[in-house]
Amino acid sequence: MTWLVTGGAGYIGSHVVRALGAAGLGAVVIDDLSSGHAAFVDPGTPFVEGSILDTALVRRALEDHAVEGVIHVAGFKYAGVSVQRPLHTYEQNVTGTASVLQAMADAGVARIVFSSSAAVYGTPPTEIVTEDTPKSPESPYGESKLIGEWLLRDQGVAAGLKHTSLRYFNVVGSGYDDLYDTSPHNLFPLVFQALLEGRTPRINGDDYPTPDGTTVRDYIHVQDLAISHVAAAKRLAADEPVEAAYNLGSGDGSSVGDIMRTVAEVTGIAFEPVIAPRRAGDPARIVALGDLAGRDLDWRMRHTLAEMVDSAWRATRGASHE
Ligand SMILES: NC(=O)c1ccc[n+]([C@@H]2O[C@H](COP(=O)([O-])OP(=O)(O)OC[C@H]3O[C@@H](n4cnc5c(N)ncnc54)[C@H](O)[C@@H]3O)[C@@H](O)[C@H]2O)c1
Repeated sequence: MTWLVTGGAGYIGSHVVRALGAAGLGAVVIDDLSSGHAAFVDPGTPFVEGSILDTALVRRALEDHAVEGVIHVAGFKYAGVSVQRPLHTYEQNVTGTASVLQAMADAGVARIVFSSSAAVYGTPPTEIVTEDTPKSPESPYGESKLIGEWLLRDQGVAAGLKHTSLRYFNVVGSGYDDLYDTSPHNLFPLVFQALLEGRTPRINGDDYPTPDGTTVRDYIHVQDLAISHVAAAKRLAADEPVEAAYNLGSGDGSSVGDIMRTVAEVTGIAFEPVIAPRRAGDPARIVALGDLAGRDLDWRMRHTLAEMVDSAWRATRGASHE
């Protein structure tokens, strides 16, 4: 049984491909390498280099490899940048998703798992987020992910598409030393980059109403996330019921201060973070309950914060030595 992983040369997609392999399922990757890396795709995995916007190419990939379903991970993920580049964000995440769905309809493929985001909630009215928390995205990125979910829902009604959307919170860590997050905007890569360049990492605001005054977020290990994608794919393949959306969150969280302390411990680099002003619109604490995913998708936190930091640091540092 083979699944097409869009964005399979990226940080999360490459982990999903390996998790499929570990579960005895095949994978085909389509990726335009806009932010991914050909080296993240194992030599044994068929790799179609091109854009999901090319509907005919996606269709051929589905048909040539007798694909059973799609794990649609490809996307433009920079929420901050999306404010400056709304048209690009919508093209990649909305038109791109519509193109994947069109190719699936053309090829008669009717199962999809979609990479959605905590960004669909915007600034939630409660500190604890459930799937029913109102959706109120605050960036073109969050909007584009919510529209992606709606596209799946509407194709479900129109064409019987079986689908589920996984809303990730803060994805960190590495499952393998050769796969890591290369994003120039996420917290872990930013902190590691600063340390590798001899700069002191900084914290935006230490006067929030949290135990150590820094913001609290829900950090999840990419390997745990990948396992739940496989579970979702298997459920869809077995025609078992799925929710339209699942939060992949821990129900708990870590503060930026916790992370800095853990980074100092794991790396052995003693540093006192620079305290910078708060960023506008940064809520004090956002964590999500992953109970539904725990029930249906083999979701649980298998890694501690120290393991998340350690695995990410090892992979990032290894790459910086290449
Ligand atoms: N990393 C996170 O914390 C996080 C949180 C929530 C949601 N997400 C979502 O998860 C997905 C993967 O994120 P990631 O962290 O692995 O990012 P990433 O940038 O490493 O991976 C995205 C991959 O998609 C590919 N891609 C982008 N546009 C494409 C296109 N038009 N055609 C083909 N391939 C294309 C890129 O080259 C890259 O390999 C994204 O959709 C992102 O929005 C990520």
